[in-house]
Amino acid sequence: MTDNLYTQSMLKENSLKDKVIVITGGGTGLGKSMGTYFSQLGANLIITSRKQERLEKTASEIYEKTKNKVLPIVCDVRDYKQVENMLAKSLEEFGKVDGLLNNAAGNFISPTERLSNRAFNTIVDIVLKGTYNCTLAFGKQWIEKKQPATILNIVTTYAWTGSAYVVPSACAKAGVLALTRSLAVEWGKYGIRSNAIAPGPFPTKGAWDRLFPKEMRDAFDVRKKVPLGRVGEHQELANLAAYLISDYSSFMNGEVVTIDGGEWLKGAGEFNMFEKLTPEMWDEVEKVVRNVKRS
Ligand code: HXC
Ligand code: NAP
Repeated sequence: MTDNLYTQSMLKENSLKDKVIVITGGGTGLGKSMGTYFSQLGANLIITSRKQERLEKTASEIYEKTKNKVLPIVCDVRDYKQVENMLAKSLEEFGKVDGLLNNAAGNFISPTERLSNRAFNTIVDIVLKGTYNCTLAFGKQWIEKKQPATILNIVTTYAWTGSAYVVPSACAKAGVLALTRSLAVEWGKYGIRSNAIAPGPFPTKGAWDRLFPKEMRDAFDVRKKVPLGRVGEHQELANLAAYLISDYSSFMNGEVVTIDGGEWLKGAGEFNMFEKLTPEMWDEVEKVVRNVKRS
């Protein structure tokens, strides 16, 4: 696997030098992988989540690798006061913030009718409210200081298709996508870009434990849903995120980039189920169909 180009760094060294980037949910999973790569490219980071110990561990791991600053700050994105405090501490340490990666999320599979109202709220509050809390606090400050900046939101492909059994997450991610596109237009005049990434399946402990529990993995092999027959590698997502948060993508605004090996389209196409047919079966089908044309 390590020989594949997509598991390797893509951008030039120092592509994010002197940039200061906040990553919500930056202590684990995809947030940690994207943060590690941003730091390798020269960025200083602020990583946030609810768990101090985990943040500190990740911050020192990244620092050991890159020797660029990583500031861990506990911040529950559902609470606007904590978000304002996180912004103030970031400014105190670095004097500015150039990029906001809204990556924090909560999710689990469940039939919707089994959810309590509080369970639904919990997911929507982390994903949608958390994203607009951070976006609002940072946006106000950027506009006031006339500072160009970049917002990158992590959604998922069911932001537009919807999905059974993760309904609160689907509602919330759809809201985040609407926020991305709306502010791309409204805040473009301030030099603030808003883009999103819609990843397909990228194994992480946080997502897999809650969405694809071990007991279900054999019966529901997620790779079979993907035309390319594999799941994503963290580095290929990190490459895309680094591009979108960097100045290389200066003319990208309001875009949502899907990186899912073709997964959602496979679920959507009317005749995609015919991939199960063998060449021999296709020979038979062709005969039948051609006959229809002649009669
Ligand atoms: C039904 C559940 C439940 C479950 C929790 N609840 N788990 N209901 N089925 N499996 C209910 C609780 O009973 C409670 O309601 C309410 O939800 C809040 O639960 P708490 O545990 O009090 O909340 P909290 O401690 O804030 O934890 C939030 C969490 C947890 C979302 C429930 O899973 C979490 O911390 N997640 C963070 C990380 C995460 O989820 N990562 C995955 C992102 S993956 P009551 O009424 O009982 O009080 C992702 C990928 C998308 O988004 C695409 C993949 C391809
Ligand atoms: P993860 O490791 O569980 O990441 C979620 C992060 O959010 C955790 O670090 C968690 O930290 C943080 N978080 C949760 N609630 C929070 C809150 N209230 N305030 C602040 N931080 C909070 O899962 P992941 O797979 O890397 O997911 C990262 C992002 O990718 C999410 O937006 C997810 O929807 C998206 N995504 C993932 C996949 C995939 O296949 N993995 C696919 C599509 C989209 P704490 O618990 O310490 O707070």
